[in-house]
Amino acid sequence: MTDRYASFVQSAAGRALVKRLGLPDPPRLRRHQPGDPLLPGPALLGAADGGRLTEPVRTILTTAGVELRDAGTVAAEDRFGALVYDATGITDSTQLRQLYDFFHPHARTLLPSGRVIVLGTPPQECPTPREATAQRALEGLVRSIGKEFGRGSTAQLVQATGNGGIAADGPAHSPGTTTSLTSTIRFILSGRSAYVSGQVVRVGAGTATAPADWDRPLDGQVVLVTGAARGIGAALARVLARDGAQVVALDVPAAGDALAVVANDIGGTAVQLDLTAPDAPTRLADHLATRHGRVDAVVHNAGITRDKTLGRMDADRWDQVIDVNLSSQERINDVLLERKLIPAGGRIIGVSSIAGIAGNRGQTNYATSKAGVIGLVDSLAPTLRDRGISVNAVAPGFIETRMTARIPLVVREAGRRMNSLAQGGLPVDVAETIGWLAWPASGAISGNVVRVCGQSLLGA
Ligand SMILES: NC(=O)c1ccc[n+]([C@@H]2O[C@H](COP(=O)([O-])OP(=O)(O)OC[C@H]3O[C@@H](n4cnc5c(N)ncnc54)[C@H](O)[C@@H]3O)[C@@H](O)[C@H]2O)c1
Repeated sequence: MTDRYASFVQSAAGRALVKRLGLPDPPRLRRHQPGDPLLPGPALLGAADGGRLTEPVRTILTTAGVELRDAGTVAAEDRFGALVYDATGITDSTQLRQLYDFFHPHARTLLPSGRVIVLGTPPQECPTPREATAQRALEGLVRSIGKEFGRGSTAQLVQATGNGGIAADGPAHSPGTTTSLTSTIRFILSGRSAYVSGQVVRVGAGTATAPADWDRPLDGQVVLVTGAARGIGAALARVLARDGAQVVALDVPAAGDALAVVANDIGGTAVQLDLTAPDAPTRLADHLATRHGRVDAVVHNAGITRDKTLGRMDADRWDQVIDVNLSSQERINDVLLERKLIPAGGRIIGVSSIAGIAGNRGQTNYATSKAGVIGLVDSLAPTLRDRGISVNAVAPGFIETRMTARIPLVVREAGRRMNSLAQGGLPVDVAETIGWLAWPASGAISGNVVRVCGQSLLGA
């Protein structure tokens, strides 16, 4: 599926027309290529008084090869790849003024596809109501910056829990260890997060293991991808393999040929299985046990739509969607967990949808199943914490795939443009986000639902 309008506005004639008529102006997004620097320019680092994350973040950025500048040393002509602000020191609403003082003079210094990161504390962990109030206020700033700065830039709030995001597994950056914040900061700054904006990511204090090579953050990991024959699943299988994973690619037997192409291309294995078959969980578990002895990350990507307004929907449409998108995934989790095939440090990653957050006309079945995926994250993440398994989901917005190509033209155009980046995302954008959640270095992230929607207005 291609976005012809987005290609047109990149042309000289298109640019002129967009300016004259005030039409949506989708920027070209910076996407990750292995070997790319994290940012297209230096990062400006600022902090509220008493911020506890400034020094760890400084270390993370410099270790990642980012050129750092401090507020106060900025010349009028300076331009930045990122503005990073440690707001953890803000304990009262009167101190929010420090945000204005940092961002106001630098609001127009961000390069195209630049990044804004504000670091905060989860309000529920703040010791006083005043601090919780001020920390909650950060969300409004970040989401507004995401809508305001434009030119492909994004803005996120990263909330670090407890010990300030410093993993208890050893000194920062000694081999094999990392601060638990590192993977998230690296993901957000990079082109991997091109279509993620306006998000709040909570990073806990769990274990996080740094890869030997940040261009292969999944080296040696066994990852199962369901629905891998096409669309987001196929892009995901390719991204995971590029990043070092051994991929087990699963899809229905009817998609066997396309599945074999994906699996062959990436040197992975193909499993032809209908997830809703009664024996699917055992057959899958047997395959994983025999071939790999374990599965480090399970990505429940397979999903279907069977749209009809509720009054016109037959029971089959309801049942199929709930079964593929939710119940079969629960049955598979149960068997894999029971047989201890997901080891400590393992991941379960769901694929929800903004329809599961906002609801959607004609999609009562689909939105129910996708809200259920969020429920699964909320309920399973605390249960599995003791086993060292983290559970997260992504919620894609409008992604250019066969699924969205079937949407009627006018609704499709609205879905594409009604977000801060004025375009649909690509399957690779969802894939990169799922990849980040699967990295061993992201072990401290659990219970999150991260939207990959260009900051869609739906469910905002
Ligand atoms: N495309 C979007 O804009 C969008 C937006 C939000 C969420 N999502 C979600 O992302 C996921 C992937 O979407 P997509 O657009 O790539 O869809 P797609 O239809 O292109 O691919 C889905 C894949 O899942 C497989 N599948 C379906 N039922 C299966 C079953 N019973 N057993 C095994 N495999 C099965 C299909 O054969 C297909 O290969 C889905 O969960 C979807 O709901 C997509």
